Amino acid sequence: MLTLAIETTCDETAACVLRDGRIVSETVFSQIALHRRYSGVVPELASRAHLEKINHVVRAALEGAGIELPAGGKKVKKLFDAVAFSRGPGLPGAILVGRVAAQTAAKVFGAPLIGVNHLEGHLLACEFRKGRADARLEFPLAALIVSGGHTELWRADGYGEYELLGRTRDDAAGEAFDKVARLLGLAYPGGPEVERLALKAGGKRPSFPRPFMDGGLDFSFSGLKTAVAYYLRDNPRPGAAARAAVCAAFQEAVADTLAAKAALACRKYGLRTAAAGGGVSANSLLRARMERACAEAGARAVFSEKKYCTDNAAMIALAAQRRLESGRRLKHSAEVDPDLEIESWGR
Ligand code: KG4
Ligand code: ZN
Repeated sequence: MLTLAIETTCDETAACVLRDGRIVSETVFSQIALHRRYSGVVPELASRAHLEKINHVVRAALEGAGIELPAGGKKVKKLFDAVAFSRGPGLPGAILVGRVAAQTAAKVFGAPLIGVNHLEGHLLACEFRKGRADARLEFPLAALIVSGGHTELWRADGYGEYELLGRTRDDAAGEAFDKVARLLGLAYPGGPEVERLALKAGGKRPSFPRPFMDGGLDFSFSGLKTAVAYYLRDNPRPGAAARAAVCAAFQEAVADTLAAKAALACRKYGLRTAAAGGGVSANSLLRARMERACAEAGARAVFSEKKYCTDNAAMIALAAQRRLESGRRLKHSAEVDPDLEIESWGR
């Protein structure tokens, strides 16, 4: 099964050719440098940058797979089983660029167009090991999706069998990392910067609240971010050591909260696996805390390779292949939906 996939929901323009779960070729163009001076993603700039790069990115992925685009408007039949793209959630203008590119490729290659849920892609990215989707998810499991725009906990009983257990009531975990980084004058994206600086922290650290530890599975991170802001108001002009201590204390509060909720979901529903995906799941402390908390709940924590935690097109291609492999007669939507919720297509 050969799939071409395109990802443009936020600040990465990405394309991938995937054959039977094996990455044949992939290209990612990151817009981080473009957004850095604004300390966050500027949607209009993101759309324009996707537009500028998309042809190059798709062409590079195709060429990497030894596939040439036909010249002179000629069509190629029966090469790809599907052309997939992220139809949401994400930035509307940015997603639209990916859809137009995917639609065009689907026409040229005479392949069906499949719109995929970006967050489902983040979950399935856990299956990639050394370029192949060999590390199959073991269902039923708890799925923790932690990205710049989303923090959600699902129960997954199989591919396409999802049920939402909890989500953030305000900021996403990645958003909290980015905001705290901004408070400390660190570069965008904040997650990796906070993680790096936290490594330099000594033993003396402020203590921040673990929000929403009320026995439920929803999250809230805006109070934690405010606690950091108040701390910095009361302790102004922190030196390097104090900034490192804030990073470490904040990161610990986020990691503990996420780990505890994932473990709680495993306990509550008798799940033996907790899978984490999305940019924040690249965080080493979160991984360590989640492994420990889940082990105590009798569950194994699994993650994507770090490279596939952040946005990429391989996960989108894989999500399309898992749909096709299911053998179900599915209706594939190609509608752009910036607020797309998880979709259960497997039952
Ligand atoms: O999944 P992703 O690439 O894009 C979205 O779909 O949003 O996630 C990006 C988010 C950013 O908020 C970034 O700060 C965060 O993931 N992130 C991290 C780390 N790497 C990226 N957060 C904590 N620790 C990290 N190592
Ligand atoms: Zn993402």
